[in-house]
Amino acid sequence: MKARIAVVAGDGIGPEVTAEAVRVLEAIAARFHHEFELVAAPFGGVAMDLHGDPLPAATLRTCLDADAVLLGAIGGPKWSSPQLKVRPEQGLLRLRRELGVYANLRPVSMHPALRAASTLKAEVLEGVDLVFVRELTGGIYFGARTRTATEASDLCTYTAGEIERVVRVAARLAMSRRRRLVSIDKANVLDTSRLWREVTERVVKNEYPQLQLEHMLVDAAAMHLIRRPRDFDVAVTENLFGDILTDEAAAISGSLGMLSSATIGGKVGLFEPVHGSAPDIAGKNMANPLGAIASAAMLLRHSGKFEQDARDIEEAIREVLNSGYRTKDLDNGNAKYVLETAEMGGMVEHALSEVVDRRRAYHAV
Ligand code: NAI
Ligand code: MG
Repeated sequence: MKARIAVVAGDGIGPEVTAEAVRVLEAIAARFHHEFELVAAPFGGVAMDLHGDPLPAATLRTCLDADAVLLGAIGGPKWSSPQLKVRPEQGLLRLRRELGVYANLRPVSMHPALRAASTLKAEVLEGVDLVFVRELTGGIYFGARTRTATEASDLCTYTAGEIERVVRVAARLAMSRRRRLVSIDKANVLDTSRLWREVTERVVKNEYPQLQLEHMLVDAAAMHLIRRPRDFDVAVTENLFGDILTDEAAAISGSLGMLSSATIGGKVGLFEPVHGSAPDIAGKNMANPLGAIASAAMLLRHSGKFEQDARDIEEAIREVLNSGYRTKDLDNGNAKYVLETAEMGGMVEHALSEVVDRRRAYHAV
């Protein structure tokens, strides 16, 4: 099977972790004779240095022509002076807009081996497996703003169409999982939330009647998320609430370096680890590549053709963690083996080949 994947590694640890994700994709391709055409292109600060533009026209073309985009991270101190007119983040916003992606998916689960890395109690974390779906291109972040010396305002707007499409993404996802959807809003106060609730209710009732739908107020959701995270399957919410709650949910997994994301809804999906370019550890070969590798797994899953490959990669990550391998960020002082970035990538590649062998042997009997 074929796929064309644009690889925009970006800045800081972006290229370091992306190299390991690419290594794993290449291993999968070689093993199963998939034809992955991986096309690298400059993006972010590095593209500003080269071309004066964080999203050069050629890079955008490469992304639009691909089946999916694998992104590392962008930004860093070199490009964050307030005097700069162009910033790397503008490239990311523009790329999302050009790809037409509006639904940001962030899975959160607890690797049993990492229990100690989380600040939450082990019994609360047991069995957590949820996905947040955050609306990404509407709401208060994109509304009109005003500002005087003594007054400021930010406008929050949603249309029924914007709500419908993201709710459909979340509902389809929930249908492929435990069939439970929680929609998070502030309908006791906000009109955008009342519309959100109405539209969600209608879409689910008409199109996904088998789903169990629950509405939750955002303040209550913030509490339930850390008191009983296990009860969540898929949660869908608007841009601002999603921004805050996904960071809260990230705390469950113990390290930012573990988390992956998919931004979908358009023709081409964007897949990236949740973390940034981590300038404090860039160039030291100590970044955790597992979030980037898990993002490559999400890419394969959402392409619709490589579900088994995605599962194999996720299994390989679990295996490596269960065997006691850690990167520095996951080491609470008593890790058996602390690996560098490339060593960890190599370990996942090795585990992947064992996972595949085992699965094939199992199916052969
Ligand atoms: P960050 O996520 O880059 O780093 C936060 C902390 O987590 C740092 O101490 C870092 O060393 C650690 N960390 C992050 N990823 C890690 C990994 N894979 N392995 C081990 N440790 C890891 O967030 P920060 O420091 O707020 O931002 C740094 C730069 O990244 C900024 O320029 C920011 O704008 C950019 N950024 C870019 C994003 C993107 O490309 N989508 C997302 C978030 C931030
Ligand atoms: Mg955030």
